Amino acid sequence: MDMAKKYNLLKSKKSYRNIRDRDTSRKNKLLASKFSKEYFDGTRSQGYGGYYYDGRWIKIAKKLIKKFNLKKGSKVLDIGCAKGFLIHDLKKQSKNKIKVYGIDVSKYAKSKAMISVKSKIQIMNCKKLDFKDNYFDLVVAINVVHNLNYNLCKKSIKEIQRVSNGRAFIQVDAYRNQNELKILKKWIVTAKTYLKPLEWRKMFNEVGYSGFYDYTILEDDKWLIK
Ligand SMILES: C[S@@+](CC[C@H](N)C(=O)[O-])C[C@H]1O[C@@H](n2cnc3c(N)ncnc32)[C@H](O)[C@@H]1O
Repeated sequence: MDMAKKYNLLKSKKSYRNIRDRDTSRKNKLLASKFSKEYFDGTRSQGYGGYYYDGRWIKIAKKLIKKFNLKKGSKVLDIGCAKGFLIHDLKKQSKNKIKVYGIDVSKYAKSKAMISVKSKIQIMNCKKLDFKDNYFDLVVAINVVHNLNYNLCKKSIKEIQRVSNGRAFIQVDAYRNQNELKILKKWIVTAKTYLKPLEWRKMFNEVGYSGFYDYTILEDDKWLIK
């Protein structure tokens, strides 16, 4: 039986994208995987095409506070926090009561992070988390661990379990058929681990992950494949 539980945190809306416009050449993928300026604030073929704060994390911060019963002094880690949008909103929505931490491999993202949380962000790779066992009341990793190869991805989920004791949420990309895999490979410029839902669950079980998770599946009917 699965210990991990599915939870729809992001509730992404149905939106149509034209994957023909995405030039995910080897060159762009290599550039994106450096998680530097090009990935965050370069062109759409290199990554986000501009990673800006637009308030979309506010409702997610509110949901996390409620679901995980976060209160004064609760410690929350956002893995792959980029410019710190989620930890900024967690801090703000809790009226500075929650203690926020962020880690990211990107020095560029930290250099452009929101002033309110810049000092809370550490440059660290999620394959080895430099925190004590059970240190956090919540660990969040949204669209991060699939950027590592299979073995390191597994290692990082084990690390998440270790520092959170299952008080965690992980969002990963997944596919169910060859067409969805094709879309995923075309659209996600940095992923190294592509798995089906069942394979993710197998990985969660193998490392003893007992927190929450969800998949982002780029469904056929959301994409204009030309
Ligand atoms: C797709 S972005 C997601 C950013 C943010 N969590 C969000 O959902 O908007 C992936 C983030 O993970 C970071 N990242 C990639 N590999 C990482 C690793 N091995 N350890 C820590 N952070 C990593 C990238 O620099 C980037 O900020």
